[in-house]
Amino acid sequence: MTAQHYDLIIRNATIIDGTRAPRYQGDIGVRDGLIVDVGALKNAGAAREIDANGHIAAPGFIDAHTHDDRLLFSDPAMTPKVSQGVTTVITGNCGISLACSPAKAAQTPPLDLLDNEGGWFRFPSFAAYREALAATPAAINAACLVGHTTLRCATMDRLDRAATPGEMSRMRAMAREALASGAIGISTGTAYAPAAAAPTEELIEVCRPLSEFGGLYVTHMRNEDAQVTDAIDETCAIGRALNVPVVISHHKCAGVANHGQSVVTLAQIEKAMREQRVALDCYPYIASSTVLRSDRLAQSTRVIITWSKPHPEFSGVDLDEVARRLGVTQAEAVEKLKPAGAIYFMLDEQDVQRILAFDETMIGSDGLPHDAVPHPRLWGTFPRVLGHYCRDLKLFSLETAVYKMTGLPAKKFGLTGRGVLQAGAHADITLFDAALVMDAADFKNSTTPAKGIATVIVNGVPVWADGKATGARPGRVLLNQSRT
Ligand code: ZN
Ligand code: CU
Repeated sequence: MTAQHYDLIIRNATIIDGTRAPRYQGDIGVRDGLIVDVGALKNAGAAREIDANGHIAAPGFIDAHTHDDRLLFSDPAMTPKVSQGVTTVITGNCGISLACSPAKAAQTPPLDLLDNEGGWFRFPSFAAYREALAATPAAINAACLVGHTTLRCATMDRLDRAATPGEMSRMRAMAREALASGAIGISTGTAYAPAAAAPTEELIEVCRPLSEFGGLYVTHMRNEDAQVTDAIDETCAIGRALNVPVVISHHKCAGVANHGQSVVTLAQIEKAMREQRVALDCYPYIASSTVLRSDRLAQSTRVIITWSKPHPEFSGVDLDEVARRLGVTQAEAVEKLKPAGAIYFMLDEQDVQRILAFDETMIGSDGLPHDAVPHPRLWGTFPRVLGHYCRDLKLFSLETAVYKMTGLPAKKFGLTGRGVLQAGAHADITLFDAALVMDAADFKNSTTPAKGIATVIVNGVPVWADGKATGARPGRVLLNQSRT
């Protein structure tokens, strides 16, 4: 038998292939960005060899929920993500996307989470965004959504009302352009002021092109506290009306009064899954993070400021401390700090564990990369699931943990040839030490890189090795492939 020659061989790996199958020992041969062979490749040669030394080799992680639309350009090394083993990000979540946003988005929370100055809102169409990203690739892959709130901001004079039929048809045309140009779906964020006035019918009418293109309806639901079950019903109804898959983003039961409700919501979601395509993601923390808003105060046991335009000096400081220093109430402090962002401790650990452990739950960071002092989920999500929840708390097996961040999201988002470590798949591979992997970012030091991620490979090219980014930029824009 003639010895194979590869661009890269990874030897002595413990392979967890992303399908939930039990781990096994093997070597991995990579050529032209693809995994060519997996098994015992003793006699094969390669331009480059990596000794995995018994570390786990898994498919590169897919961050199912991100706001990395701009980070792909402003930090193309994508250090917060590659340092965690992430090789693909889903962007454009919660109704907000850099693609199609007008300049005034910079003054429209939560669109200002992407850019509160305005200079980055320069992609009037999805095609313009995609072409710019393809021309200046990042280290990792991106599959992109277009945001409904963004489309509202681009087409409506005021956002505190339902769209007129004319506005809906303009938004629908923009959504159609996005999907025809490769967007994998549309996100909505009806929990936020600029989209809260949109009735269900508007969401259905704007999202109609999803049916034609096989796109996803991805939603930061209208409510995640007392009316969360109604919001799940609305989401499922939209999915049925359009006959498309839905994704419930960062599923949670917020506010002390709603703690424990995940027993009810997960049963509801499980039931819906028997009738239609439903997916969900979750981040492994009891604190959420978004723009600063006073209606979150009553639900939270602690609030930390992540950025403030008028008062940048309070980034990283607890709101009660800010109020004390300013000599005002917390509600008054909120008004003085806005526009701003915050972390809200308002979830229950048991709910977080129950949702994470639910069979169909994907892992999504929801990290906010432009916050001055961001929630630690930006740098810690994936190693925290692998180290804290899987290894230490034994919430699920390592094979299941990997599946939740690879094979499962690849299937739900239609990322063909990703999320599995098998011959023929794209060579997105993460090598990590199962005994050491752990998040290091916390609420005090929120941007510390995680431990235990050894090597990260994207499309056959190493982007992370020896604890630092390699500088390579092999990332691709993953287009909607199910369109006809
Ligand atoms: Zn959200
Ligand atoms: Cu989000």
